[in-house]
Amino acid sequence: MKLELPRQDDTIALGRAIGEQVRAGDLVLLTGPLGAGKTVLVKGIAAALEVHGRVSSPTFVLARVHEPGPRGIGLVHIDAYRLGGDVDQLEDLGIDTASDDSVVVVEWGEFVADRFGPDYLLVRLERRPDDVRVAELEPHGAWVDRPLPG
Ligand SMILES: Nc1ncnc2c1ncn2[C@@H]1O[C@H](COP(=O)(O)OP(=O)(O)O)[C@@H](O)[C@H]1O
Ligand SMILES: [Mg+2]
Repeated sequence: MKLELPRQDDTIALGRAIGEQVRAGDLVLLTGPLGAGKTVLVKGIAAALEVHGRVSSPTFVLARVHEPGPRGIGLVHIDAYRLGGDVDQLEDLGIDTASDDSVVVVEWGEFVADRFGPDYLLVRLERRPDDVRVAELEPHGAWVDRPLPG
C-alpha cells in the first residue's frame, strides 16, 4: 500500500501516526534517497512522542539522543549512511541501540536491517519526478499487528 505525500505536512502527519503507535524498545528503519523526507518523517515521530530537542539531520554526529517527554519514551535518531552498517561504532560512542525506554529510528536503515532483531517497521520513501513523496510501510514481526496508516 503506497501513501502519497504531496506536501511536507503530509510526511509530518505520517510520522505522527507512526509515533502514536511506537512503544519503548521499538525500531523504525527509514529508506529512500537524499531529500526523500526521512528527516521530516522523524520530526513527525518526535512531535507525537513529545521528546526534547529539535530534530535535525544527524549526518555529522551519527546519532542524536532526544530525552523523553510526557510519554516517557525517548528517541534515538541515527543516520546509518556514514556508519556503513557498522552499528558497533554506535555502541563504541556510548549510544544505546537496544534501549528499553527509547524508540530507535534509523535513516538509511537498509544498511543495518540485518543488525537488529526481527521486529521493526520499515518505511520506504521515494520522491517521484513530480516531486510528490510516496511512502510504503513494511511492518515486520510484532509490527504486523499494529494499526498503521494505509
Ligand atoms: N512531501 C514532502 N515530504 C517531505 N519533505 C518534503 C516534501 N515536499 C518537500 N519536501 C522537502 O524535501 C526535503 C526533505 O529533506 P529531508 O527530510 O532532510 O530528506 P532526507 O532525510 O530523506 O534526506 C525538505 O527540504 C522538505 O522541506
Ligand atoms: Mg535525513
